[in-house]
Amino acid sequence: MADLKTRWLGLSLKAPFVIGASPVGDDLDKVAALVEAGAGALVLHSLFEEQLVLEQMAAHRHFDAHIDTDAEARSFLPSSDVFSLGVDRYLGHLRRARARVDVPVLASLNGVTPGGWVEYARLLADAGADAIELNLYEVTVDPSLSGAEVEARQLEVVRQVVAAVDRPVSVKLSPFYASVPGFVSQLAQAGAAGVVLFNRFYQPDVDLEKLDVDRTLVPSTSAELPLRLHALALVHGRIDIGLSVSGGVHTGLDAAKAILCGAQSVQMASALLDKGVARMKGVVEELGWWLDQKGYASVDEARGVLSLQHAPNAHALERVNYMKMLQGWMPRR
Ligand SMILES: Cc1cc2nc3c(=O)[nH]c(=O)nc-3n(C[C@H](O)[C@H](O)[C@H](O)COP(=O)(O)O)c2cc1C
Repeated sequence: MADLKTRWLGLSLKAPFVIGASPVGDDLDKVAALVEAGAGALVLHSLFEEQLVLEQMAAHRHFDAHIDTDAEARSFLPSSDVFSLGVDRYLGHLRRARARVDVPVLASLNGVTPGGWVEYARLLADAGADAIELNLYEVTVDPSLSGAEVEARQLEVVRQVVAAVDRPVSVKLSPFYASVPGFVSQLAQAGAAGVVLFNRFYQPDVDLEKLDVDRTLVPSTSAELPLRLHALALVHGRIDIGLSVSGGVHTGLDAAKAILCGAQSVQMASALLDKGVARMKGVVEELGWWLDQKGYASVDEARGVLSLQHAPNAHALERVNYMKMLQGWMPRR
Protein backbone atom coordinates (compact mmCIF):
# COMPACT_ATOMS: atom_id res chain seq x y z
CA MET A 1 0.00 0.00 0.00
CA ALA A 2 1.10 3.60 -0.61
CA ASP A 3 3.12 5.28 2.11
CA LEU A 4 0.76 7.33 4.29
CA LYS A 5 3.47 9.05 6.34
CA THR A 6 3.39 12.82 6.42
CA ARG A 7 5.22 15.69 8.08
CA TRP A 8 3.21 18.46 9.68
CA LEU A 9 4.48 21.29 11.90
CA GLY A 10 7.88 19.56 11.89
CA LEU A 11 6.29 16.45 13.41
CA SER A 12 6.33 12.98 11.83
CA LEU A 13 2.88 11.43 11.49
CA LYS A 14 2.37 7.78 10.53
CA ALA A 15 -0.74 8.89 8.60
CA PRO A 16 -2.31 12.30 7.87
CA PHE A 17 -5.46 11.65 9.91
CA VAL A 18 -5.69 13.78 13.04
CA ILE A 19 -8.27 13.47 15.80
CA GLY A 20 -9.61 17.05 15.74
CA ALA A 21 -10.28 19.23 18.80
CA SER A 22 -13.53 17.92 20.27
CA PRO A 23 -14.78 15.62 23.04
CA VAL A 24 -13.26 12.69 21.09
CA GLY A 25 -9.95 13.42 22.82
CA ASP A 26 -11.50 13.29 26.29
CA ASP A 27 -11.68 9.49 26.40
CA LEU A 28 -8.16 8.08 26.26
CA ASP A 29 -9.32 4.49 25.69
CA LYS A 30 -11.06 5.70 22.53
CA VAL A 31 -8.05 7.77 21.56
CA ALA A 32 -5.78 4.72 21.93
CA ALA A 33 -8.15 2.67 19.76
CA LEU A 34 -8.23 5.44 17.13
CA VAL A 35 -4.43 5.58 17.11
CA GLU A 36 -4.34 1.79 16.76
CA ALA A 37 -6.72 2.20 13.80
CA GLY A 38 -4.36 4.68 12.12
CA ALA A 39 -4.80 8.20 13.60
CA GLY A 40 -1.52 10.09 13.25
CA ALA A 41 -2.03 12.76 15.93
CA LEU A 42 -4.45 14.07 18.52
CA VAL A 43 -5.66 17.61 19.20
CA LEU A 44 -7.31 18.08 22.59
CA HIS A 45 -10.35 20.32 23.03
CA SER A 46 -9.68 24.01 23.64
CA LEU A 47 -8.91 25.78 26.84
CA PHE A 48 -10.62 29.16 26.59
CA GLU A 49 -9.10 32.56 27.32
CA GLU A 50 -12.04 33.25 29.66
CA GLN A 51 -11.21 30.08 31.62
CA LEU A 52 -7.59 31.15 31.98
CA VAL A 53 -8.46 34.69 33.01
CA LEU A 54 -10.82 33.36 35.68
CA GLU A 55 -8.10 31.02 36.90
CA GLN A 56 -5.59 33.87 37.07
CA MET A 57 -8.02 35.99 39.06
CA ALA A 58 -8.73 33.13 41.45
CA ALA A 59 -4.99 32.58 41.88
CA HIS A 60 -4.55 36.18 42.90
CA ARG A 61 -7.32 35.85 45.49
CA HIS A 62 -8.93 39.04 44.19
CA PHE A 63 -11.48 37.11 42.25
CA ASP A 64 -14.60 37.83 44.27
CA ALA A 65 -13.69 41.45 45.00
CA HIS A 66 -12.89 41.99 41.35
CA ILE A 67 -16.14 40.52 40.15
CA ASP A 68 -18.03 42.70 42.66
CA THR A 69 -16.37 45.95 41.70
CA ASP A 70 -15.21 45.77 38.14
CA ALA A 71 -18.08 46.27 35.71
CA GLU A 72 -15.87 45.50 32.74
CA ALA A 73 -14.79 42.19 34.22
CA ARG A 74 -18.39 41.36 35.03
CA SER A 75 -19.47 41.98 31.46
CA PHE A 76 -16.49 40.18 29.94
CA LEU A 77 -16.42 37.03 32.00
CA PRO A 78 -19.03 34.32 31.89
CA SER A 79 -20.26 33.00 35.22
CA SER A 80 -17.91 30.31 36.43
CA ASP A 81 -20.45 27.56 35.79
CA VAL A 82 -20.06 28.10 32.03
CA PHE A 83 -16.47 26.92 32.27
CA SER A 84 -15.19 24.72 35.03
CA LEU A 85 -11.89 26.14 36.24
CA GLY A 86 -10.05 23.23 34.80
CA VAL A 87 -6.49 24.14 33.88
CA ASP A 88 -4.95 21.56 36.21
CA ARG A 89 -7.36 18.95 34.93
CA TYR A 90 -6.47 19.86 31.36
CA LEU A 91 -2.74 19.62 32.08
CA GLY A 92 -3.28 16.26 33.80
CA HIS A 93 -5.25 14.97 30.84
CA LEU A 94 -2.59 16.21 28.44
CA ARG A 95 0.14 14.39 30.40
CA ARG A 96 -1.91 11.19 30.47
CA ALA A 97 -2.64 11.43 26.74
CA ARG A 98 1.04 11.97 26.03
CA ALA A 99 1.95 8.89 28.09
CA ARG A 100 -0.79 6.75 26.59
CA VAL A 101 -0.29 7.18 22.84
CA ASP A 102 2.89 7.35 20.79
CA VAL A 103 1.63 9.96 18.34
CA PRO A 104 1.98 13.75 18.66
CA VAL A 105 -0.51 15.37 21.03
CA LEU A 106 -1.47 19.00 20.48
CA ALA A 107 -3.07 21.22 23.10
CA SER A 108 -5.58 23.81 21.95
CA LEU A 109 -6.06 27.36 23.19
CA ASN A 110 -8.95 29.58 22.21
CA GLY A 111 -8.19 33.23 22.71
CA VAL A 112 -8.74 36.50 20.93
CA THR A 113 -7.16 39.26 22.99
CA PRO A 114 -3.50 39.70 23.89
CA GLY A 115 -2.88 39.27 27.62
CA GLY A 116 -1.44 37.39 30.55
CA TRP A 117 -3.52 34.29 29.82
CA VAL A 118 -1.16 33.60 26.93
CA GLU A 119 1.45 32.48 29.49
CA TYR A 120 -0.60 29.32 29.95
CA ALA A 121 0.71 28.17 26.58
CA ARG A 122 4.03 27.59 28.34
CA LEU A 123 2.35 25.29 30.89
CA LEU A 124 0.86 23.30 28.01
CA ALA A 125 4.29 22.97 26.43
CA ASP A 126 5.82 21.96 29.78
CA ALA A 127 3.12 19.33 30.20
CA GLY A 128 4.26 17.75 26.95
CA ALA A 129 2.19 19.29 24.16
CA ASP A 130 4.05 18.61 20.92
CA ALA A 131 2.50 21.73 19.41
CA ILE A 132 -0.10 24.33 20.29
CA GLU A 133 -3.20 24.82 18.19
CA LEU A 134 -4.45 28.36 18.65
CA ASN A 135 -8.13 28.55 17.85
CA LEU A 136 -8.94 32.16 16.91
CA TYR A 137 -12.68 31.55 16.80
CA GLU A 138 -14.61 34.68 17.64
CA VAL A 139 -17.66 36.50 16.35
CA THR A 140 -17.28 40.24 16.04
CA VAL A 141 -20.37 42.05 17.31
CA ASP A 142 -19.11 45.62 17.61
CA PRO A 143 -20.11 47.58 14.46
CA SER A 144 -17.36 50.13 15.07
CA LEU A 145 -14.63 47.49 14.89
CA SER A 146 -13.02 47.09 11.47
CA GLY A 147 -11.75 43.83 10.03
CA ALA A 148 -8.23 45.30 9.99
CA GLU A 149 -8.43 46.00 13.75
CA VAL A 150 -9.65 42.47 14.49
CA GLU A 151 -6.85 40.97 12.38
CA ALA A 152 -4.20 43.18 14.02
CA ARG A 153 -5.38 42.02 17.46
CA GLN A 154 -5.40 38.38 16.39
CA LEU A 155 -1.87 38.68 14.97
CA GLU A 156 -0.70 40.12 18.28
CA VAL A 157 -2.19 37.11 20.11
CA VAL A 158 -0.31 34.81 17.72
CA ARG A 159 2.97 36.70 18.28
CA GLN A 160 2.53 36.41 22.05
CA VAL A 161 1.76 32.68 21.99
CA VAL A 162 4.69 32.04 19.62
CA ALA A 163 6.98 33.99 21.96
CA ALA A 164 5.72 32.05 24.99
CA VAL A 165 6.50 28.54 23.74
CA ASP A 166 9.33 26.65 22.12
CA ARG A 167 6.85 24.47 20.22
CA PRO A 168 5.24 24.94 16.83
CA VAL A 169 2.06 27.00 16.90
CA SER A 170 -0.69 26.22 14.42
CA VAL A 171 -3.53 28.73 14.04
CA LYS A 172 -7.08 27.56 13.43
CA LEU A 173 -9.02 30.09 11.40
CA SER A 174 -12.60 30.80 10.53
CA PRO A 175 -13.31 31.12 6.77
CA PHE A 176 -14.32 34.77 7.09
CA TYR A 177 -11.39 36.96 6.09
CA ALA A 178 -11.43 39.37 3.15
CA SER A 179 -8.13 37.78 2.04
CA VAL A 180 -7.41 34.33 3.44
CA PRO A 181 -4.01 34.12 1.68
CA GLY A 182 -3.14 37.61 2.89
CA PHE A 183 -3.95 36.79 6.51
CA VAL A 184 -2.19 33.42 6.33
CA SER A 185 0.89 35.19 5.00
CA GLN A 186 0.81 37.61 7.96
CA LEU A 187 0.40 34.65 10.33
CA ALA A 188 3.55 33.09 8.85
CA GLN A 189 5.40 36.37 9.44
CA ALA A 190 4.10 36.41 13.02
CA GLY A 191 5.79 33.04 13.55
CA ALA A 192 2.94 30.56 13.07
CA ALA A 193 4.20 27.18 11.88
CA GLY A 194 0.84 26.18 10.45
CA VAL A 195 -2.80 27.00 9.86
CA VAL A 196 -5.93 24.88 10.14
CA LEU A 197 -8.49 25.69 7.44
CA PHE A 198 -11.17 26.11 8.81
CA ASN A 199 -13.06 26.06 12.05
CA ARG A 200 -16.79 25.66 11.75
CA PHE A 201 -18.84 28.75 12.33
CA TYR A 202 -21.26 28.24 15.20
CA GLN A 203 -24.63 28.78 13.51
CA PRO A 204 -27.56 28.70 15.90
CA ASP A 205 -30.89 28.22 14.18
CA VAL A 206 -34.25 29.75 15.07
CA ASP A 207 -36.88 27.51 16.65
CA LEU A 208 -40.14 28.85 15.18
CA GLU A 209 -42.25 26.81 17.58
CA LYS A 210 -40.59 27.92 20.81
CA LEU A 211 -39.66 31.36 19.44
CA ASP A 212 -36.19 30.73 20.73
CA VAL A 213 -32.68 30.13 19.52
CA ASP A 214 -31.86 26.51 18.73
CA ARG A 215 -28.27 25.94 19.83
CA THR A 216 -28.02 22.32 18.76
CA LEU A 217 -24.58 21.64 17.28
CA VAL A 218 -25.30 19.91 13.98
CA PRO A 219 -22.50 17.59 12.83
CA SER A 220 -20.81 18.45 9.53
CA THR A 221 -21.15 16.62 6.23
CA SER A 222 -18.73 16.29 3.31
CA ALA A 223 -20.59 19.22 1.69
CA GLU A 224 -18.50 21.54 3.89
CA LEU A 225 -15.24 20.38 2.38
CA PRO A 226 -15.08 22.34 -0.94
CA LEU A 227 -14.76 25.71 0.85
CA ARG A 228 -11.65 24.29 2.54
CA LEU A 229 -10.29 22.70 -0.63
CA HIS A 230 -10.41 26.03 -2.37
CA ALA A 231 -8.53 27.80 0.42
CA LEU A 232 -5.91 25.04 0.61
CA ALA A 233 -5.32 25.25 -3.14
CA LEU A 234 -4.84 29.02 -2.88
CA VAL A 235 -2.29 28.83 -0.08
CA HIS A 236 -0.30 25.66 -0.83
CA GLY A 237 3.20 26.31 -2.14
CA ARG A 238 2.82 30.09 -2.08
CA ILE A 239 3.22 30.66 1.66
CA ASP A 240 5.76 28.80 3.75
CA ILE A 241 3.40 27.40 6.36
CA GLY A 242 2.02 23.99 7.37
CA LEU A 243 -1.50 23.21 6.16
CA SER A 244 -4.15 21.20 7.94
CA VAL A 245 -7.76 20.86 6.91
CA SER A 246 -10.71 20.73 9.31
CA GLY A 247 -14.37 20.60 8.36
CA GLY A 248 -16.21 18.08 6.28
CA VAL A 249 -13.71 15.21 6.17
CA HIS A 250 -15.79 12.06 6.51
CA THR A 251 -14.20 9.62 4.06
CA GLY A 252 -10.80 8.60 2.73
CA LEU A 253 -11.77 10.23 -0.57
CA ASP A 254 -12.45 13.52 1.23
CA ALA A 255 -8.94 13.23 2.66
CA ALA A 256 -7.51 12.50 -0.81
CA LYS A 257 -9.11 15.71 -2.13
CA ALA A 258 -7.63 17.77 0.73
CA ILE A 259 -4.18 16.27 0.13
CA LEU A 260 -4.36 16.98 -3.62
CA CYS A 261 -5.12 20.60 -2.69
CA GLY A 262 -2.12 20.77 -0.36
CA ALA A 263 -3.07 19.51 3.13
CA GLN A 264 -0.33 17.95 5.23
CA SER A 265 -2.79 16.70 7.77
CA VAL A 266 -6.51 16.03 7.78
CA GLN A 267 -8.51 16.62 10.94
CA MET A 268 -11.75 14.82 11.76
CA ALA A 269 -14.23 15.56 14.54
CA SER A 270 -17.89 14.99 13.51
CA ALA A 271 -17.15 11.73 11.71
CA LEU A 272 -15.31 10.32 14.74
CA LEU A 273 -17.94 11.51 17.21
CA ASP A 274 -20.51 9.74 15.08
CA LYS A 275 -18.76 6.62 13.82
CA GLY A 276 -15.61 6.26 15.98
CA VAL A 277 -12.92 3.67 15.39
CA ALA A 278 -14.66 1.95 12.48
CA ARG A 279 -14.60 5.23 10.54
CA MET A 280 -10.89 5.74 11.26
CA LYS A 281 -10.10 2.27 9.91
CA GLY A 282 -12.27 3.01 6.88
CA VAL A 283 -10.63 6.32 5.97
CA VAL A 284 -7.12 4.89 6.30
CA GLU A 285 -7.97 1.99 4.00
CA GLU A 286 -9.82 4.15 1.50
CA LEU A 287 -7.04 6.73 1.21
CA GLY A 288 -4.47 3.91 0.73
CA TRP A 289 -6.67 2.30 -1.91
CA TRP A 290 -7.16 5.57 -3.78
CA LEU A 291 -3.45 6.42 -3.81
CA ASP A 292 -2.64 2.91 -5.09
CA GLN A 293 -5.15 2.96 -7.88
CA LYS A 294 -4.00 6.38 -9.04
CA GLY A 295 -0.39 5.21 -8.99
CA TYR A 296 0.84 7.46 -6.18
CA ALA A 297 3.51 5.81 -4.07
CA SER A 298 2.91 8.14 -1.14
CA VAL A 299 0.81 10.93 0.32
CA ASP A 300 3.78 13.25 -0.30
CA GLU A 301 3.64 12.50 -4.03
CA ALA A 302 -0.05 13.44 -4.27
CA ARG A 303 0.17 16.54 -2.10
CA GLY A 304 -0.62 19.81 -3.82
CA VAL A 305 -1.10 18.35 -7.30
CA LEU A 306 -4.27 20.44 -7.63
CA SER A 307 -3.03 23.57 -5.87
CA LEU A 308 -2.86 26.88 -7.72
CA GLN A 309 0.85 27.08 -6.99
CA HIS A 310 1.83 26.88 -10.65
CA ALA A 311 -1.02 28.93 -12.10
CA PRO A 312 0.65 31.92 -13.80
CA ASN A 313 -2.25 34.23 -12.90
CA ALA A 314 -4.29 32.65 -10.14
CA HIS A 315 -6.54 35.71 -9.73
CA ALA A 316 -7.55 35.72 -13.42
CA LEU A 317 -8.05 31.94 -13.31
CA GLU A 318 -10.33 32.26 -10.30
CA ARG A 319 -12.43 34.93 -12.04
CA VAL A 320 -12.67 32.95 -15.25
CA ASN A 321 -13.70 29.79 -13.37
CA TYR A 322 -16.35 31.75 -11.50
CA MET A 323 -17.73 33.23 -14.73
CA LYS A 324 -17.68 29.84 -16.49
CA MET A 325 -19.53 28.25 -13.60
CA LEU A 326 -22.28 30.88 -13.57
CA GLN A 327 -22.60 31.09 -17.33
CA GLY A 328 -22.51 27.33 -17.80
CA TRP A 329 -25.45 26.79 -15.46
CA MET A 330 -28.15 24.50 -16.89
CA PRO A 331 -31.52 23.70 -15.35
CA ARG A 332 -31.64 20.19 -13.86
CA ARG A 333 -33.68 17.70 -15.87
C1 LIG B 1 -18.78 18.74 19.97
C2 LIG B 1 -17.66 19.52 19.34
C3 LIG B 1 -16.74 20.18 20.14
C4 LIG B 1 -15.70 20.93 19.57
N1 LIG B 1 -14.78 21.55 20.37
C5 LIG B 1 -13.77 22.25 19.80
C6 LIG B 1 -12.77 22.86 20.59
O1 LIG B 1 -12.76 22.78 21.82
N2 LIG B 1 -11.80 23.56 19.95
C7 LIG B 1 -11.74 23.68 18.58
O2 LIG B 1 -10.82 24.32 18.05
N3 LIG B 1 -12.67 23.09 17.81
C8 LIG B 1 -13.67 22.39 18.38
N4 LIG B 1 -14.60 21.79 17.58
C9 LIG B 1 -14.52 21.98 16.12
C10 LIG B 1 -13.82 20.78 15.46
O3 LIG B 1 -12.49 20.64 15.91
C11 LIG B 1 -13.78 20.94 13.94
O4 LIG B 1 -13.01 22.06 13.58
C12 LIG B 1 -15.17 21.11 13.32
O5 LIG B 1 -16.12 20.28 13.95
C13 LIG B 1 -15.12 20.80 11.84
O6 LIG B 1 -14.63 19.49 11.62
P1 LIG B 1 -15.60 18.24 11.33
O7 LIG B 1 -16.32 18.52 10.07
O8 LIG B 1 -14.65 17.07 11.19
O9 LIG B 1 -16.51 18.11 12.50
C14 LIG B 1 -15.61 21.02 18.15
C15 LIG B 1 -16.54 20.34 17.34
C16 LIG B 1 -17.55 19.58 17.92
C17 LIG B 1 -18.51 18.86 17.03
